[in-house]
Amino acid sequence: MKKHAIDTLCVHGGVEPEFVTGAIMTPIFQTSTYVQESPGQAKVYDYARAGNPTRTSLEKALATLEKAEHALTYSSGLAAVQAVAQLLNCGDHVLVCDDVYGGTGRLFRRIFAKYGIEFEFIDMTNTDLVSERVRKNTKMIWAESPTNPLLKLIDLEKIGSVAKKNNITFVVDNTFASPIFQNPLELGCDIVLHSTTKYIGGHSDVIGGCVMLNCSQLYDELKFLQFAGGSVNAPWDCFLLLRSIKTLSLRMQRHHENGIILAEFMKSRKEFSEVIYPGLKSHPQFDIAQRQMRGFSGMISARLQGNFDVVQNFLKKLKLFSLAESLGGVESLVNHPETMTHASVPADHRKKIGITSDLIRFSVGIENVNDLIDDITQAFD
Ligand SMILES: Cc1ncc(COP(=O)(O)O)c(C=O)c1O
Repeated sequence: MKKHAIDTLCVHGGVEPEFVTGAIMTPIFQTSTYVQESPGQAKVYDYARAGNPTRTSLEKALATLEKAEHALTYSSGLAAVQAVAQLLNCGDHVLVCDDVYGGTGRLFRRIFAKYGIEFEFIDMTNTDLVSERVRKNTKMIWAESPTNPLLKLIDLEKIGSVAKKNNITFVVDNTFASPIFQNPLELGCDIVLHSTTKYIGGHSDVIGGCVMLNCSQLYDELKFLQFAGGSVNAPWDCFLLLRSIKTLSLRMQRHHENGIILAEFMKSRKEFSEVIYPGLKSHPQFDIAQRQMRGFSGMISARLQGNFDVVQNFLKKLKLFSLAESLGGVESLVNHPETMTHASVPADHRKKIGITSDLIRFSVGIENVNDLIDDITQAFD
């Protein structure tokens, strides 16, 4: 399967007709356990926390998309983040990109820090800074690219070589790019993860997460952690995700096309003092975007001129863009990071990195782009 193009892989990758009936679509194996032939002799699966055929199909499909040997799926994106962080030990030091998703930062600051793991949040667009901050006990580098919500791009090849040289596990949260537009494992990363709630799910009707990797030893550790801890996704959710993956490539293409048009439109409007989109020439890491991404998705961040009241009025007046947490669905969403997705980030850190009240994050859906432009225009009026 690996030799096929990504859009073919979306339709066929990892999925085979069901072996008893030949059903072309993977059935929902809604079962918690499996009858054994004799004590300790399971046919294939013994208990659904350990494995389920619908989940196996999903894992195979996801591994194919990220060109990975292995994949594991979880009950949410944060459950996937938590699973990977559980590879760490007391006394370890982790470098994290400074505007990492608020929930990931909260998990690190409020939970894993209690277990004696130190997290240092730095601007990873500065590769030299990453090398400088590596210590003897640095065990993991944690990056998003594009980052949430400032859409900074991190040079994955360069950071990957810093990690390799220092024997550090390099983790990339690839949620914003999706496997259609970026494959971090091919750029030197060790573990890639996604919130499948977002682009991979794509219809705002399922919560899930996944981890993909090539290293069998790390996979075995993660598999054990999942079995021991129990964070798995339900068969029905696996089915929904399998169904979503069929159209992932088509959807991403449309998100990308709409994203470029809308970002250019927003840039032409004086109401916005800044528009951040990896596909705009004005993006500070535009050259990295050209090198490591095949498309730029539908995530745009922008700063609206005026005070918080102006921002609030604008958000309330939008009609097609719904004010909601989350992103990556077929319908357009808008988010105010300071008070919503990144409210849990300490206020001084938020201010320092630029998550201020004027910042708005748009998740551009697959609607007709002219209707989206009209919606923004009427909200200005
Ligand atoms: C980049 C990123 N990673 C991880 C997560 C967590 O995913 P979930 O909400 O599925 O737990 C999110 C959620 O918004 C996210 O934006």
